[in-house]
Amino acid sequence: MNIPRRDVDFALDPTTVRRDWCHDDPFQTTFLNALSLLFPEGERFFVESVKQHKAFVTTPKLEAEVKGFIGQEAMHGKEHRAFNELLVAHGYAVAPKVELRLRGFLKLVRKVLSPKSQLAATCALEHFTAMLAESLLRDPRMREEIDPSVRGLWLWHALEESEHKAVAFDVYRAAGGGYLRRASIMLLTTAVFFAVQALVHARLMATRGILFRPWTWLRGIGRLWIWPGHLTRLVPAYLAYFKPGFHPDERDTTELLARWETNLFGAEGDLRAQLKLVA
Ligand SMILES: [Fe+2]
Ligand SMILES: [Fe+2]
Repeated sequence: MNIPRRDVDFALDPTTVRRDWCHDDPFQTTFLNALSLLFPEGERFFVESVKQHKAFVTTPKLEAEVKGFIGQEAMHGKEHRAFNELLVAHGYAVAPKVELRLRGFLKLVRKVLSPKSQLAATCALEHFTAMLAESLLRDPRMREEIDPSVRGLWLWHALEESEHKAVAFDVYRAAGGGYLRRASIMLLTTAVFFAVQALVHARLMATRGILFRPWTWLRGIGRLWIWPGHLTRLVPAYLAYFKPGFHPDERDTTELLARWETNLFGAEGDLRAQLKLVA
């Protein structure tokens, strides 16, 4: 898999991005805003956990993939940081504090978990991003909910998460990482991730003054888990991770990614103008 580092610049402008940019719905928008707040620090954690195992990256192929993975995650961090600044302009003054708290939390995680378990947590979270990414690239309903002013950011990120979905996993295997650790860390990571995401989401909802509106919750949770059930649709892919022989590449996304590479960065691609450099 070719994993290029694409330096894109979305130059997001708070005056042209609507505050409720996802489905005109404050619940869904704050859900994705919360996710964006987790990205820069989270992705820094992913990169570090892979770098800690560079001694096990011994083939030129894996070496090139790791380089691509690090480059892509660095670019995601840069653009999501810019997006998170836009959130401040949208009235979420709490955003920088959330990122600071997360940094403190991840510092603690680095102390508590061994390097190999940190890498297993990265594999788990990379599986999450790969599932969300594939679903965004495949499901037009999910894409159409995102306002065109920020759709490019999410599609570019989705394309690259899908491109590098197997890198951390392959480094984990090269480092001798086993099934039991991978599966148990996935369970732990799932619980911690949903707790952290829910806390940040609730914080953003409180800022918007919508935290105690039952109808907002019912509608939002209904859309995520019942219809169209954006998260429920991911359950089979999530469970596949627990098979002892699981590998991220068993879900073949080659054709899907080639199509989106053309849609976004081809000669007529939607994001061609925002692309500054490919390395
Ligand atoms: Fe990323
Ligand atoms: Fe990633």
